[in-house]
Amino acid sequence: HGPLGGRSRRRGRAPRRIPPLCPLCCLVFSLLRLAAAGPPAPHLVLVLADDLGWGDVGWHGSAIRTPRLDALGAGGVRLERYYTQPLCTPSRSQLLSGRYQIHTGLQHQIIWPCQPSCLPLDEKLLPELLQEAGYITHMVGKWHLGMYRKECLPTRRGFDTYFGYLLGSEDYYSHNRCVLIKAKNVTRCALDFRDGEEVATGFKNMYSTNIFTERAIDLIASHKTEKPLFLYLSFQSVHEPLEVPEEYIKPYSSIKDVKRRHYAGMVTLMDEAVGNLTDALKRYGLWDNTVLVFSTDNGGQTLAGGNNWPLRGRKWTLWEGGVRGVGFVASPLLKRKGVESRELIHISDWLPTLVHLAGGHTNGTKPLDGFDVWKAIR
Ligand SMILES: *[C@@H]1O[C@H](CO)[C@@H](O)[C@H](O)[C@H]1NC(C)=O
Ligand SMILES: *[C@@H]1O[C@H](CO)[C@@H](O)[C@H](O)[C@H]1NC(C)=O
Ligand SMILES: *[C@@H]1O[C@H](CO)[C@@H](O)[C@H](O)[C@H]1NC(C)=O
Repeated sequence: HGPLGGRSRRRGRAPRRIPPLCPLCCLVFSLLRLAAAGPPAPHLVLVLADDLGWGDVGWHGSAIRTPRLDALGAGGVRLERYYTQPLCTPSRSQLLSGRYQIHTGLQHQIIWPCQPSCLPLDEKLLPELLQEAGYITHMVGKWHLGMYRKECLPTRRGFDTYFGYLLGSEDYYSHNRCVLIKAKNVTRCALDFRDGEEVATGFKNMYSTNIFTERAIDLIASHKTEKPLFLYLSFQSVHEPLEVPEEYIKPYSSIKDVKRRHYAGMVTLMDEAVGNLTDALKRYGLWDNTVLVFSTDNGGQTLAGGNNWPLRGRKWTLWEGGVRGVGFVASPLLKRKGVESRELIHISDWLPTLVHLAGGHTNGTKPLDGFDVWKAIR
């Protein structure tokens, strides 16, 4: 059986032997091959939110409105015992390598702006495996897996295209990342925004979530090929700084805490962005054969507007509030929809799960910590 109940293409099988010079046999054989090929492998869309808390989405009873995410989750499989790492770089490294950070040396907090570190180059990453499985691979948004050498950049690690920023915590509009140089007691700021490997200077005063979504939609609109699409959309939202256009804050004037009020607006803007993304997948005819995974990278930061109620703790902590993540899978290919899964699922599981869905193989990876959990999700 194929991963989608016999619907997806099988790969890597030994070719059948063809009897020599038999035109009719060849014709029959070709027809058999066509029948065996079945529908193409699914498009895979992986949406990662930054610091979105357990108590920040509608289906967990939040006062923050997330209608698009609610609807997607309600029409798919909500992962209610889904775990991440408590912090950005470790979580992202596991997402793309399928391996715990203790095996990659990334267990020491995040990769800081001037730190000569990246996800080790001998790790084979999810996008590389999907490229091998015949996918076109795009990444938009936050990388944060190292940038001190060109070999560390997303475009050198399996993504055909990249548009986004390489560090964390930058300004949503200027795209500057500022760093206090302690030895000199001065703050230095630099633009952290790339189109491919080039510095992208043309996006000042544009809110990152809007331009990331626009880029993602452009990629979807121009996906005019038989090959399946892998799109990794890694939002800046809803990490601090707490910045969002005023119109998104207005509906939350009843929230007294100023941080929470801004944060609520940021969550709602991101919700709208995910809505726009799925609208585009439908508009350009990809949705019917798409598996969309939505995940946070870690728990909410309660010091910056986030909320993990009723879970204790926050980002950076090993309490449930730090590691239990918001996540769901939405896809017309799912047989059972509107299901709440209580299975233990971890962010490191996506690599083997998505590669399996792609009909690919995990050859070349080091021993994986993640498991293929598609059966549990399906
Ligand atoms: C994966 O590796 C195994 C063992 O080395 C090999 O037999 C198999 O052909 C490889 N599969 C592909 C598709 O490369
Ligand atoms: C660093 O500079 C700020 C002013 O920019 C000053 O207030 C502060 O005292 C300085 N700190 C040290 C340790 O020199
Ligand atoms: C969603 O699409 C609408 C209509 O094109 C646009 O006005 C809005 O800014 C988009 N929102 C986001 C967050 O990208």
